[in-house]
Amino acid sequence: MKIAFFDSGMGGLTVLHEALRQMPYEEYIYFADSDNAPYGTKSSAWIEALVYQAVDFLNKHPLKALVLACNTATSVAVKQLRREYDIPIIGMEPAIKPAVERPTTQKTLLCATTKTLEEEKLQNLILNLNAESRVVRFSLQELVMYAEHLEFENSKVEAYLKAQFKEIDWSEFDSMVLGCTHFPYFKKLFKKLIPSHIHILDGNEGTVRHLKSRIELNGHKRKKPIEFFVSKKKVRAKRFQPYFDYLEEIL
Ligand code: DGL
Repeated sequence: MKIAFFDSGMGGLTVLHEALRQMPYEEYIYFADSDNAPYGTKSSAWIEALVYQAVDFLNKHPLKALVLACNTATSVAVKQLRREYDIPIIGMEPAIKPAVERPTTQKTLLCATTKTLEEEKLQNLILNLNAESRVVRFSLQELVMYAEHLEFENSKVEAYLKAQFKEIDWSEFDSMVLGCTHFPYFKKLFKKLIPSHIHILDGNEGTVRHLKSRIELNGHKRKKPIEFFVSKKKVRAKRFQPYFDYLEEIL
């Protein structure tokens, strides 16, 4: 039985990369809905329809778990999916909890897609943590398509981030949460552009630990090739390799 990873595109590979580190011998399927990326600018109904199409497709394979390796898809659809499918469904949640539990009164910059920032799921999370006054919501939507095009640190991305960060007074902050699975690709650039006292957190390690606690490991001693799909078309692993190579370089 395989573990399926789903994302609007290449962002979920940052989570799969962590899964391969913690559980190298599991069998994985990765589904990138790149034909329809980005999700973060679309309506909830549209995103939900796209997620259902992908999950129906993935569910035809024998699966032991499904990881919604996409904060936007999780915000919009995880509740309904859990009601309708009979496999463990692991979603993404921005790592706000570890950020606001740090012993400091400074603020957290929560970076995510426009859609994730609007959704009720996030408002509830912040409310439950009693963290409204400590969390500043910040869309970095355009990073999604830069990542899709393998543009992680060129002058265009750098100019975009500089313009976005222009008004931020970093002395008010001590952490930044990456609430979109495409954003870990930009860790190197973030470190270049923001002061070193800012801790950068993402939810990938915690999500994979959670996944591991929900499944039975297969006990194999050898790696199996990953099966890749782009919007339901089977594609060669070669297309995804530059993303893994870049993550190896920066993480
Ligand atoms: N990786 C998705 C997320 O975590 C990207 C969203 C998009 O396609 O806009 O939110």
